[in-house]
Amino acid sequence: MIGLGERVGASPPRVDGAAKVTGAARYVDDLQPPGCLVGRTVRSRVAHGVLRALERDPGFDWSDVTFVTAADVPGRNVVTLIEDDQPVLVPVGGTIRHHDEAVALVAAPTKEKAEAARAAVRLVVDPLPAIFTLDDALRAEVKLHGQDNVFKRFEVTRGDDVERALAACDVVVEGVYETGAQEQMYIEPQGMLAAWEGDTCHVTGSLQCPYYVHKALKVTLGLPAERVVITQAVTGGGFGGKEEYPSMIGAHAALLARAAGRPVKVVYERDEDVAATTKRHPSRVRHRLGLAKDGRMLAADVDVLFDGGAYATLTQVVLSRGVLHAAGPYRIPTVRIVGRALATNHPPHGAFRGFGAPQTTFAYERQTAKAARALGMDPVALRRLNLYRDGDVTATGQTLRGSVAAHPTLDRVVAQLEQPPPAGRRTLPQAPHVKRGRGVATYFHGSGFTGSGEERLKGQATVAVAADGVLEVRAGSTDMGQGATTTFAQIAATALDVHVSQVRVAQPSTDKVPDSGPTVASRTCMIVGGLVDQAARAVRSKLEAFAAEVGLAADDPARGDLPALARRWAAARGELAETHTYRPPAGIRWDDQTYRGDAYPVFGWAACAVDVAVDTDTWEVVVERCVHAVDVGKAINPTIVQGQIDGGTVQALGWALWESVQYREGKVLNDRMTNCIIPTAIEAPELETLLVEEPYAHGPFGAKGVGEIPMDGPGAAVASAVEDALGVAMDELPLLPEVVHRRVRAGRAGGAA
Ligand code: MOS
Repeated sequence: MIGLGERVGASPPRVDGAAKVTGAARYVDDLQPPGCLVGRTVRSRVAHGVLRALERDPGFDWSDVTFVTAADVPGRNVVTLIEDDQPVLVPVGGTIRHHDEAVALVAAPTKEKAEAARAAVRLVVDPLPAIFTLDDALRAEVKLHGQDNVFKRFEVTRGDDVERALAACDVVVEGVYETGAQEQMYIEPQGMLAAWEGDTCHVTGSLQCPYYVHKALKVTLGLPAERVVITQAVTGGGFGGKEEYPSMIGAHAALLARAAGRPVKVVYERDEDVAATTKRHPSRVRHRLGLAKDGRMLAADVDVLFDGGAYATLTQVVLSRGVLHAAGPYRIPTVRIVGRALATNHPPHGAFRGFGAPQTTFAYERQTAKAARALGMDPVALRRLNLYRDGDVTATGQTLRGSVAAHPTLDRVVAQLEQPPPAGRRTLPQAPHVKRGRGVATYFHGSGFTGSGEERLKGQATVAVAADGVLEVRAGSTDMGQGATTTFAQIAATALDVHVSQVRVAQPSTDKVPDSGPTVASRTCMIVGGLVDQAARAVRSKLEAFAAEVGLAADDPARGDLPALARRWAAARGELAETHTYRPPAGIRWDDQTYRGDAYPVFGWAACAVDVAVDTDTWEVVVERCVHAVDVGKAINPTIVQGQIDGGTVQALGWALWESVQYREGKVLNDRMTNCIIPTAIEAPELETLLVEEPYAHGPFGAKGVGEIPMDGPGAAVASAVEDALGVAMDELPLLPEVVHRRVRAGRAGGAA
């Protein structure tokens, strides 16, 4: 039945594409219920202090303004996530912990009035000393969290005593690697719309994880589950930035709507979004790598520090992933990794594509490049000697069983480099002041939640014959632009043997779809897609049994026509819903206490090579070539998968070269797209993206995750390419011209900058 151009492995057009390009798609800012008010947030404007009072200008006309403070929170004043440390609104008498913290809310009929009202609120604050650096956090003269400012510490060890093992190595390479905050810069800023119907609160908005918002709002509003309904509007990008912050905005909109008795929409302006919402954790990683003369890696000692910002939010999970990837995709018998996330007075740092792995990947891949240099070895040969193969054991003691594509991805990159570069690429002229170099990186990324996470989550997905007879996928996983809807439609259509157009994917809403777990961690296609596949097969068997049961004549056209059968089922029996719940494959074991075992169900693998040209007059770095091979298990929709890799690659190049969030005293200075620069089509090189498919036995059609892995490695490849060009170590990102210049001036390779 199904057209070959629609099956898994083909690239039919995105099911959400037409509505988006014609402007028919409804983002949260397009929703305008009658009487809807505009909500705005009053923010602290000091990084640390005690809020003594909130004073409203008596000369201002407050008659049509709704004003909400912490005193108006009916439930608990926390944004529930992992630790309940972040208030929805700082109460009077409470402590302000970052510059953009929400202290009060206003809503008014127009944006102008709401902004004027916000400006008419004065804060009385007793300032406290604040800390903004990892070193100040470690010194703990100012205590923001416990006695030591450590939100969380993880340790992974394997093999002997690491100091003894390093002492026995022929060569030990050491480096300290620093990376800055990175803004997700989704095209659509964050926003939520809340409206109460009687005692039930409906919140619709731009978000990744409807059930996270649901969980948080139940607590803030003090309501039972069924009286909070969270719906995802069409969402213009997330990249991790809409993983948890929507719970905050959703709570704000809900509180305002409750107080006003009318719908309230809170949509952030760009500057507010950049300043107040989460960013990638700034990091410092100290890494020692010991090798034998022949290039075998023998010992690694890694110390990871993340700036968590003012509240715990998702930091511990981000740190966990960073730590679990910190030894790289290499066979190393002795490993010690210690990771600590520290509290500062920055706005909380949080989820961003890669989720901790880019920071530690930058360190271990710079180390691998330095080790090759120290040993006088070809960097590709050094990697080939050490890269994991099937059956190898990772730092946590996980035996890799199948779907290991470390070598195949590197082989693809090496083969592609033999080919001429793409036409039309951006290059610098051949000139004496232009230096050129090449950098390589090989890396991996665990698909799905860490450790026992998936077992605890028990994600669910449903495939149904809806009451109207249409075959429908119901999942709490969201499409934020990455193509989840089309991917699910293709998986279901293939399992049902129908056309993609004959499957409807329900808009995620907590009253209509099951909790599939959050749309994060490169888990949507692999974990939830697998559930969609199973549920669709179950629906198909039921419908086929139904055909036999009701005795459809052999020549009845409905016999081989599942959509027609579905309509008959619905007419005769109503709805049919098959819900499947995730169960980890047999034999997966993880110990949260010792941090040992199977850290992830499976890993994706990747290799990247970057050629750069550096203009030594301007210190501009131009990526002249970027070859990126990524193993995805199986590309359900190759165009979407390539889009994911291309986008992730450019985002990684942005992190490597341009994207620099500048904080001063905890305030973001460059809070606009004009000064918080991200790469555009002009800066993006002609990407040479190569798909590798090393199937995962437990993924749908063999698929693994793809969303995050392209973000992990290109940063290190760029830095190593610049080092290759200039002969000076490039151990921090982003490599802005002034950073490259500073490092060159500081001199010798490997030296301090
Ligand atoms: Mo993601 S960065 O796991 O939302």
